[in-house]
Amino acid sequence: MYKVLESPLNYGGITLKNRIIFAPTTLGLPREEQLQRLREIAAGGCAMIIIGDVPVLPHGFGPSLYNKRGFAWYRDLADTAHREGCLICAQLHQSDSNFKGMMKYIPGVLAGQISQDELREILNRNVGPYISGLPEKKVNEITSAFGTAAELAVQAGFDMVQVHGDRMCGSFSSSVFNSRSDRYGGSTEKRARFAVEAVSSIRSKLPGLPIDYKLAVRLEHPHYGNAGVLEEELGVFLPLLEQAGVTSFHVTLADHGKLSDTIPPRNHPYFGEEGCFLRFCDTVRGLTKLPVCAVGGLTDPAFVEEQLEAGRMDCIAMSRQLIADADWPRKVMEGREREINRCIRCNKECLGGMMSHRGVHCIYERKDKK
Ligand SMILES: Cc1cc2nc3c(=O)[nH]c(=O)nc-3n(C[C@H](O)[C@H](O)[C@H](O)COP(=O)(O)O)c2cc1C
Repeated sequence: MYKVLESPLNYGGITLKNRIIFAPTTLGLPREEQLQRLREIAAGGCAMIIIGDVPVLPHGFGPSLYNKRGFAWYRDLADTAHREGCLICAQLHQSDSNFKGMMKYIPGVLAGQISQDELREILNRNVGPYISGLPEKKVNEITSAFGTAAELAVQAGFDMVQVHGDRMCGSFSSSVFNSRSDRYGGSTEKRARFAVEAVSSIRSKLPGLPIDYKLAVRLEHPHYGNAGVLEEELGVFLPLLEQAGVTSFHVTLADHGKLSDTIPPRNHPYFGEEGCFLRFCDTVRGLTKLPVCAVGGLTDPAFVEEQLEAGRMDCIAMSRQLIADADWPRKVMEGREREINRCIRCNKECLGGMMSHRGVHCIYERKDKK
């Protein structure tokens, strides 16, 4: 019935059993609950889970691959996915927030005087000066940490890694933030250097490892996204990333603007439709022969199959839809599409849950509990 969706795919040397990936999603849940959620998603039949925001340096937000406890956590995640016949990928990231500079805002946040949205705006304002002033020695330490973190991820049992092309890779890529005048700033090629070195560092340590790149694309007319790569610059970035060792692209809108642009609700003025970022896949398709993964507002199996058949992408990643119904893949393959809890992209309990520190949930959980 869904011939392409159900078929396997060679994804940089590993085989996805079907075309469905759980997109990187920070869940903000207690450990056991998080493990249980990921177990359900793996058991629901997707081919691979991407674990969001795995820090490349020893100290960052979230569990660290570099200490015993963090490493054991990642090993648990990998074992859990594998037990359900699902592959697992670590999204390697480096934050571009200046943690030291952030400290002075903490009391205001704790006292409720600074809202999450205001804090985000403050952080975004500080990205440019932070990125532009980062000493080259520190830059080299970070790019080579991508390789070290990838080695640790593989030791923990991960099947592949994704380089987070937003965050620090994205802010170095973007002329909105990057005003450096050394070899990391200026021309498009120079702005690509940080990301290229991060990928090269992984490739030099792990010659056979599949490396996915979360390609954050930004628009000027209308203006959406601040970090990442302008659509017009992709022709320069993609070959450089490919030569460095990237084996697939996960294509989405760039961040560092409003979260509701990269995680758009159904009533978003520009990205409200099903498959809202597919236009970027079309551009990427024209520039590379590597596999392309689409993400963003994908919920309808028939629509997905049509787009796969049309060759707009090779596979899909879903975040909110698999939170709404982890069994989407299984139900689709068993002809039980009507039983799917279709994500309506309301963002109430997923993005809403994350922003209000309740953890990521879904409106269907309330319905299911009744
Ligand atoms: C609660 C939540 C947390 C997310 N966390 C991450 C993350 O850690 N890293 C990342 O690159 N994207 C993250 N995303 C973005 C998703 O990977 C995805 O690109 C976005 O939600 C659009 O896909 P969807 O329409 O299938 O939800 C998150 C999305 C949601 C809803």
